[in-house]
Amino acid sequence: MKTLISPSILASDFAKLGDEVRAIDEAGADMVHLDIMDGHFVPNLTVGPDVVKALRPYSAKTFDVHLMIMPNPGIVASFAEAGADIISVHPEADPNIHRSLQNIRSLGKKSGVAINPGTPLEALEPLYELADLILVMSVNPGFGGQKFIPASLGRIRSIRERIDQLGLDTIIEVDGGINDETAPSVIEAGAHALVAGTAVFRSPHGSYRKAIDNLRLSG
Ligand code: DX5
Ligand code: ZN
Repeated sequence: MKTLISPSILASDFAKLGDEVRAIDEAGADMVHLDIMDGHFVPNLTVGPDVVKALRPYSAKTFDVHLMIMPNPGIVASFAEAGADIISVHPEADPNIHRSLQNIRSLGKKSGVAINPGTPLEALEPLYELADLILVMSVNPGFGGQKFIPASLGRIRSIRERIDQLGLDTIIEVDGGINDETAPSVIEAGAHALVAGTAVFRSPHGSYRKAIDNLRLSG
């Protein structure tokens, strides 16, 4: 299966977001990763549904929305209406995650569970059947440019085994510190999709296309 690349616009030039989204689309990105933070669950602030909506015309690719907020039905619906295709929520931030995942699917969107490096994988057990995607955090969320946590590899493998055991076709996406060095082992451990901010937008390869191709082929 082809590895899907989802560049995180957190590392892009915020003064020209629309152009950046168009540029990664034209460079062959499979998805556009949008990090939503409200300064509570993580110590940083980014953008809300209005910005997602404003960016929608710049690419027809999958909008992969990562909510690092305590979601409520109203805000989830706003992101769905804004044009999100995948909406991922964190069990650490959401006491009603079961309901949130059902809600995301009922809005016709793909549901994702994002799990922090310090959260036991047991948190996923009640959620597998409700998740189209598991977003494995390989850094503590909040900022781009952090170092990949090596223990993430064992976690990815365990999640891969569990998904196969359950006979599900859930996508495993990995987020944080992905670059040419870390991508091969992440793919080998069982990930199908890679989020990459720094490695695409601040790539040493000098072009978004080369950066994306290198990540994809590294497996
Ligand atoms: C971290 C975000 C990531 C971030 C990844 O909270 O969820 O999506 O943008 O950035 P890099 O690829 O630079 O680690
Ligand atoms: Zn993210």
